[in-house]
Amino acid sequence: MYACVETTVEPPNRFSFILPPNNRPLLRIALVTGAGGALGLATILQFAQDGVTQIAGLDISAPSLSKAATTLLEAFPTVSFLPLNVDLTQEEAVEKAIEAVVAKFGRIDYAVNNAAVGQKLGPTSETDLSEYDRVLSVNLRAVLICEKYELRQMEKQEPLVGRDTCL
Ligand SMILES: NC(=O)c1ccc[n+]([C@@H]2O[C@H](COP(=O)([O-])OP(=O)(O)OC[C@H]3O[C@@H](n4cnc5c(N)ncnc54)[C@H](O)[C@@H]3O)[C@@H](O)[C@H]2O)c1
Repeated sequence: MYACVETTVEPPNRFSFILPPNNRPLLRIALVTGAGGALGLATILQFAQDGVTQIAGLDISAPSLSKAATTLLEAFPTVSFLPLNVDLTQEEAVEKAIEAVVAKFGRIDYAVNNAAVGQKLGPTSETDLSEYDRVLSVNLRAVLICEKYELRQMEKQEPLVGRDTCL
């Protein structure tokens, strides 16, 4: 889940999203869930490409996170990456993970709640409800849990000097 509130009408180009009016990159902090997966890795690489130098990646899979960290740091050696192995359906674990991000980087400016799972396709008459519950738990409940603690942190922070605010 990714949403953006722009305070300008039409940014002149993609990089204006990250760069302030004086075009110097800001030290902003990004958090990406499901960072070990395909879209999560693409997202952290894009943040690094766009000049974000401090990135936290959350994922339930430690090996996937580790691979993502290697790929990111090979391409962008100056980025500081914080991998956090966490099951996002567990509220207490998410709360602790957000605290760890803030302890390391001081704030959270961008949050991309991307972690998700798919359900096995098949006839409705053969639906496994425990599988259905797992999909809803990761794809909906976990997103709400993440947003709850990301927003609690964001609301405490000084507003960004640049143009954008994301959740
Ligand atoms: N890749 C695509 O082109 C594409 C297109 C449309 C939709 N999607 C959907 O977007 C979602 C993400 O796509 P993807 O290709 O990156 O999938 P992916 O499976 O590669 O990545 C999902 C990541 O989320 C993590 N994850 C799952 N449950 C978690 C939990 N409880 N806590 C923390 N992390 C958890 C997984 O470990 C994995 O690393 C999927 O649901 C997919 O169906 C993907």
